[in-house]
Amino acid sequence: MKKRISIIFALLILLLFANSAFAQGTVTYTKPYLLTLSPSNEMNVLWLSKVSSEGVVEYGLTKELGQTITTEEYKIDGLKTSNTPTGYDSDPANNPELNVFQQIGTLKDLEPNTTYYYQTTTKVDDKIEKSTIYSFKTAPVNGEDFTFALLSDLQLKAESPATVKQIGQQKPDFIIYGGDLQNTPWKAGEWFFVEDCFIAPNELGKTWFEIMQQEEDGSELLQYTPIFVTPGNHEVDDQRIMSSKEMTVNNVDDWSLSIYMQIFRPLYPEQEYYPNGRHWYSADYGDLHISSISAFRWQAWSGLESPGWMMFDDISQGSPQVKWLRDDLKESDAQYKWVNMHWHMVNRGDDGWYPYSEPLVKKDGSVKYPHGDYAWNVLRPLYEKYGVNGVNFGHSHVYERYLINDVNYIEAASIGNNYRGQDDPYHPSGNKPIFEENSIRSFMIITRDENGLNAKGIAASGPNKGQVFDSFTIAK
Ligand SMILES: [Fe+2]
Ligand SMILES: [Fe+2]
Repeated sequence: MKKRISIIFALLILLLFANSAFAQGTVTYTKPYLLTLSPSNEMNVLWLSKVSSEGVVEYGLTKELGQTITTEEYKIDGLKTSNTPTGYDSDPANNPELNVFQQIGTLKDLEPNTTYYYQTTTKVDDKIEKSTIYSFKTAPVNGEDFTFALLSDLQLKAESPATVKQIGQQKPDFIIYGGDLQNTPWKAGEWFFVEDCFIAPNELGKTWFEIMQQEEDGSELLQYTPIFVTPGNHEVDDQRIMSSKEMTVNNVDDWSLSIYMQIFRPLYPEQEYYPNGRHWYSADYGDLHISSISAFRWQAWSGLESPGWMMFDDISQGSPQVKWLRDDLKESDAQYKWVNMHWHMVNRGDDGWYPYSEPLVKKDGSVKYPHGDYAWNVLRPLYEKYGVNGVNFGHSHVYERYLINDVNYIEAASIGNNYRGQDDPYHPSGNKPIFEENSIRSFMIITRDENGLNAKGIAASGPNKGQVFDSFTIAK
């Protein structure tokens, strides 16, 4: 009898816990977001849920929807909630794993250049949660107009929500994002709001998904537009390697991009997490070919001190990534070619003076870089040879652009803050930006029309907020 009472008691406790998952009236952590490598005929609708559930996507050419698919469910491994409500332990292993499930519904055989409406349903037992009805437009096959936005480096920065909402109000057809999404990938509470998880008061409401899924005041973001991302240094799971020489040197086997790769799974079907895995992809949006590569580095000490600058993924001549990029650019006959990478390869700043290549440690513990700068010596010639029109990057949180041998290099990442110092040196090649503006926050919108790609830098703050302060055209 005693045993039966304790079983009933345990069941009651379980029920209470089960109900607590729905205390907010929701079983999902995010609204739906869209990813595709084939934007003219296929769209993946994804979302993150708190419990294992059954997902359904209804879709169609009108708000009546009409077609239905079920989702694949994946568990996201490695996301943690804080070990106390007042903070995370700096060692990810000492924080409790958070259950996060990913639903992916793949809509196939879509018509190009067509608007589809969709609605997601998350079912857990008899509980059902439905999203709003959203819409997206498939890419044109060729020769039709489109608009896209460049952004990167949100990282819970104070003004990111206000800037990104203005981007959403421009209703771009897609977004190219140059890396650094939040600060520390394993911290679930930096991706989306988690009950009872620590978040600094000044970062409330600034998690990556909250910013990127704003829909107030006519903003249309991830629920409406596919996003093409690239990893930055803040996509490395354990960020302690960015500031600790000991961790960097001793934890090489732990260097990984696992959280980022899982969240953007359809862009990275191979799910390779470790250095020099397949961290690249390309996609055609109308007559624009977009190639995304993984290029970032870090150093937690003087750049000429052992062990020197760290590179996560190799971009040397002959590396798997560069071989892929060469073939990818060579084989594309698209009218326009675009490369998305995080490392700000021609920007102003001290770090440009340390060549991007393997350091060689000398006997006295100092370092030299005998291979020179791979970004300048390997990537740049490829861009020039195969007709790349634009390369965007992040990392310096600035608005800065260059035109070097007909290739536009753009960082339009003063979205939430700015890191440009007045005395930052120019790139050692002697190239200077043809335009820079760092006294305001801003973003870039690029529209393809019959004349070419028309780019506009738009002020997101300051007296001329909302106005174009820089424009240029990449002629057809
Ligand atoms: Fe950044
Ligand atoms: Fe960065």
